[in-house]
Amino acid sequence: MNIILIGFMGVGKSEVGRSLAARQGMNFIDADEIIEKTEGRKISEIFEKNGEPYFRDIETEVIKTLEDYDNFVISTGGGIVLREENVKMLKEIGTLVLLTAEPEVVYQRLKETSDRPLLMQGDKMESIKKILDARNPIYEKVADYKIDTSNISPQAAVEEIVKWIKRSK
Ligand code: S3P
Repeated sequence: MNIILIGFMGVGKSEVGRSLAARQGMNFIDADEIIEKTEGRKISEIFEKNGEPYFRDIETEVIKTLEDYDNFVISTGGGIVLREENVKMLKEIGTLVLLTAEPEVVYQRLKETSDRPLLMQGDKMESIKKILDARNPIYEKVADYKIDTSNISPQAAVEEIVKWIKRSK
């Protein structure tokens, strides 16, 4: 079984994922890193040169390759839940842990970054709120467990997840 971290950009999926894997003696992979390795370029370049639909297709292809993975913590890109087929495949291989954060917190964490193409046009805070509003119902619907990371450290989030894993065994 795998633990799959889902949630918006900037909620800490990669950092929490890495620590959780180390803590539990599991392996770690980041779906976005697989995409960048497969394509040999950054996600921002993929968006820029080929557009979002192309990126979403690769994202789905990458999820397909995870079918036989076991004992992994898998960190996913924030838009992974946009396609039902992605969610279906992920649910078949693991439990979905949703990390959340308040829009202001996401903004503070991402305000200096330029590697989130979806937040590079117009006002960043407005984009964050708009995309979050559209996605929150989906995140909530598909998640098996959720943690608000707004006011806690990545380490504290890891401990919460570990407790939840123990309780649900
Ligand atoms: C995206 C989130 C990004 C990356 C891409 C699109 C999204 O990953 O997959 O920029 O649609 O929310 P992170 O959630 O790891 O930032």
